[in-house]
Amino acid sequence: MNRKIRGMTPHGGTLVNRILTGTLREAVLAEAAILPKVYLSSMAMSDLEMIATGALSPLTGFMDQETYDSVVEGMRLPNGLAWTIPVTLPVEKAFAAGLAVGNDIALVERTAAGQDNLMGILSLREKFAYDKEREAREVYRTTEEAHPGVARLYRQGDILLGGDIWLLNRPSNLPFPEFRKDPAETRRYFAEKGWRRVVAFQTRNPIHRAHEYLQKVAMEVVDGLLLHPLVGETKADDIPADVRMQSYQAVLDAYYPSDRVLLSVFPAAMRYAGPREAIFHAIARQNYGCTHFIVGRDHAGVGNYYGTYDAQHIFDEFESDELAITPLFFEHAFYCRKCEAVVTAKTCPHGKEDHVFLSGTQVRKLLAEGKQLPVEFTRPEVSKVLVEGMKQHHAKANN
Ligand code: ADX
Repeated sequence: MNRKIRGMTPHGGTLVNRILTGTLREAVLAEAAILPKVYLSSMAMSDLEMIATGALSPLTGFMDQETYDSVVEGMRLPNGLAWTIPVTLPVEKAFAAGLAVGNDIALVERTAAGQDNLMGILSLREKFAYDKEREAREVYRTTEEAHPGVARLYRQGDILLGGDIWLLNRPSNLPFPEFRKDPAETRRYFAEKGWRRVVAFQTRNPIHRAHEYLQKVAMEVVDGLLLHPLVGETKADDIPADVRMQSYQAVLDAYYPSDRVLLSVFPAAMRYAGPREAIFHAIARQNYGCTHFIVGRDHAGVGNYYGTYDAQHIFDEFESDELAITPLFFEHAFYCRKCEAVVTAKTCPHGKEDHVFLSGTQVRKLLAEGKQLPVEFTRPEVSKVLVEGMKQHHAKANN
């Protein structure tokens, strides 16, 4: 039977589309030349694109004060829908003072070549001051500046601009064009493939054996996997996205059935907000059309700011009808020499001495020394790509 596939309902019911095209776009582009310009940070560029494509449905713009307060304090939008991460447009106070509420503003990327790329417009509904420490405490669960998300929050402008947006142009020089698919496109792909149940995997790291284990266990119970690496801004010591993309392709080519996996990129910037970001990641993947979402150990975490399973526990703070996507929770997975397999505490009876653990710091050290990673930790194909890729990055950085 070939019943029509309706696909996963977007968060809030409708897939937002704020992308201007055709003559309307031409007209707005012409008018925008005289508007005041806001130069966007890398994170704001990611957010703007994701709002416009519906990845952040039901958001139609950067948050106004009521929405911001409601999200920070209560993890919900004013209409009660679940939402855990502020999506805001910060600017400096002096600059904000010159902007008139009710007017449009040009949202501009300053390109690497020093040119302006007019990405979109914002209808300024509101400009407001906000309490950065409160946001840090509530969203990041710490006010320490050593936390990369908190550091960014403290660095950014003191006034937030709220209002609906329209997208006119994508960011310039987008890497991995062949792997960019908007939510409407991934949804179409899943429907064409006949995938009713699709699991999404968020990652900001190269795929190691534990990742592969999580994905493949999940693949046993769904129709397809959306491998959805985040390629927006990450902290400096994370492995760069271009090297990661090569590693994903290497492992997919060798060990995954090509007709059950879609590799596509997630344009978001990393917040490192742990539990709250896990909910945000899950909702966004619902918008891309996924029905399931993997949450493992310390999802979107950094340092020791979050408990190993806090990003799973936060799902209990929502009623079952608040989140349509089903989280798939996994224990910490690792290789066991006695089992000769990737296992978790749930499946392995052996002791720590038989388990292979490698911290991010150890991985970085091995790669910096040009050494291959242990095969129990990651596939040799991945290891090779990482060693080569990091060598090239270091050479470029030293030039
Ligand atoms: S994250 O910031 O995107 O969460 P990462 O790419 O390391 O970082 O993790 C991707 C997903 O795999 C997350 O859901 C994370 O919880 C999970 N994960 C990573 N490593 C392990 C592991 N060893 N065991 C179980 N889950 C893991």
